[in-house]
Amino acid sequence: MTDVSSAPDRPLVIVSNRGPLSFTVGDDGVLGVGRAAGGLVTALGPAVAGTGATWVAAAISEADRRAATDGGGLTEAEGFRLRSLVVDLDDYRSYYDVVANGTLWFLHHGLADAARRPRFDRRWREAWAAFAGVNRAFARAVAEEAPEGAVVLVQDYQLPLVAASLARDRPDLTAVHFNHTPFAGPDTIGMLPDVAADELLTGLACHHACGFHSGRWAASFVASCEAVLGRGSAPATFVAPAAADADDIRAVAASPECRAALADLEERVGDRRLIVRVDRIELSKNLLRGFHAFDDLLRTHPEWRERVVFGAFVYPSREGLPEYLAYRQEVEGLVARINATWATPTWTPILYDPQDHFPRSVAALRRYDVLLVNPVRDGLNLVAKEGALVNERDGVLALSRESGAWDELGGVALEVHPFDVAATADTLAEALSMPATGRRAHAAALAAIAERGTPAGWLARQLAAAG
Ligand code: F6P
Repeated sequence: MTDVSSAPDRPLVIVSNRGPLSFTVGDDGVLGVGRAAGGLVTALGPAVAGTGATWVAAAISEADRRAATDGGGLTEAEGFRLRSLVVDLDDYRSYYDVVANGTLWFLHHGLADAARRPRFDRRWREAWAAFAGVNRAFARAVAEEAPEGAVVLVQDYQLPLVAASLARDRPDLTAVHFNHTPFAGPDTIGMLPDVAADELLTGLACHHACGFHSGRWAASFVASCEAVLGRGSAPATFVAPAAADADDIRAVAASPECRAALADLEERVGDRRLIVRVDRIELSKNLLRGFHAFDDLLRTHPEWRERVVFGAFVYPSREGLPEYLAYRQEVEGLVARINATWATPTWTPILYDPQDHFPRSVAALRRYDVLLVNPVRDGLNLVAKEGALVNERDGVLALSRESGAWDELGGVALEVHPFDVAATADTLAEALSMPATGRRAHAAALAAIAERGTPAGWLARQLAAAG
C-alpha cells in the first residue's frame, strides 16, 4: 500500500476528466491498456496505485468507450478501481472543447484575446448547460461508487461543479478540489457571463477546501470569490505543489529505450551544446516566443552559430480545437523559417520532434545543457522538476516566473520573462556560458529541491485538507 498515513483513515475516491489508464485497439481488434499521459495523471497515478481507491474518469477515446462498455464501466488495475464514465459525444465536446478548454483554460492562463474572444453567444450558453450536465454525471457516478464517509478528491478545472451535486445527494462525503492550472483573477473571471461566473465559483465553494500548486493561484481564486460572491464566500484553500516521481523517471532514464534514444540524440547533436524543451503543443506553453528567442540568440550572439542545437520534444494536444491546430501550424512554420535562415550543410539549428515518445523526451532531459521552460502561465510545470532529477550534464534551468514551479525553483533557476523575447535570448546566452563550477552548484541545488517531495506526500496533503 502507498503511504498516505497523514491522511484521515477514510476510503478514497479520485475524480478527474482524464483517467490514469488509456485503452487502445490493436490491429487484431483486441483491447490493450497502458498509462495515460499528462501532468495530472503523471503526478497522481503513482500515488494512488496500491491504495485501493476508486478513480472516476471519462472514457475519452473510442477504445476507452469500448473498454467501458465491455467491462460494465469498471476496470481493476494497479491496486485501484477505475470507473469509466461514458458521456454522450456532443455533450462531451461542449463540456471539454467549448467550455473547459475553449473558455476556462484560456481565462485561467490569461490567454483571452479580448478584441475577439471569448464570445458568449447562445450556443455557448447551451455548451455551458452541457458542461454543468457532464459535471452532474460525474457526481452521479461518484455517488454510486463512493463508500460511506469517503473523501472525494476532485481534480482540475473541468470539474468545478461536482461537489454541488454531491452535497445534495451524498452529504456523508467530504469533497476537496485541486486545480492543476492557475486561476483567473476577478477581472478575468468577470469576462464570463454573470450566471456562469456565479455558478462556477459557488460550485467550487461547495468543497471542504480548494487546493492549488501555487499561493498566487490560491490568492486569485479567493479574490475572484470575494468579487463575485461577496466577502467571506471563499472556502478554505491550501497550497500543495505536485512532486515528480523520482523513482519512476529514473527508471525510464535507465531503460533500454531511453538509452537508444540518447545514443541517437548524441549522434545528431555531436559535441554541440543542447537547449531542450519538452512540452505539449499548447498555447500556454509559449513555444513561439521560445523559438523567436532562439532566433534572436543566433542573430545577436553569432558565436553560438553552429555550436548549439535546440531540441524541441513537443507533442500534439487538444486537436479538436481550431486554436490548437492553427498554433501548431504557426509553430511548425516558424521552426522551418528559422532552420532555413541559419542551417548550414552540417548543422540543423532546431531538431523538431512532434511525437509523444516519453523515453525520447527523458533522453533529451538527460542530455540538455539548458532546459527552457517559458510558459505564458502554468499551474506548476513538472518538466522543470523532472529535468533536474535526470539531467547528467549539470544543465541550467531557464524558467518562466509565471509558472507555479517558480515558487520552489525560482531561487536557483535563471528567470524568464515569458513575453520578453530579447531578454529570453540573453538568458539563453547566459545559461549557455555559465562556468562549470556555477553549473554544478546550480544543477545540484535544483535536484535537491526536486527530490524533496513525492507523489504520495502530495496526495497525503490533499487528503489532509479533508480534515
Ligand atoms: O495543466 C492542467 C492539466 O489538467 C494537466 O494536469 C493535464 O496534463 C492537462 O491539463 C490536461 O490535458 P488534457 O486536456 O489532455 O487531459
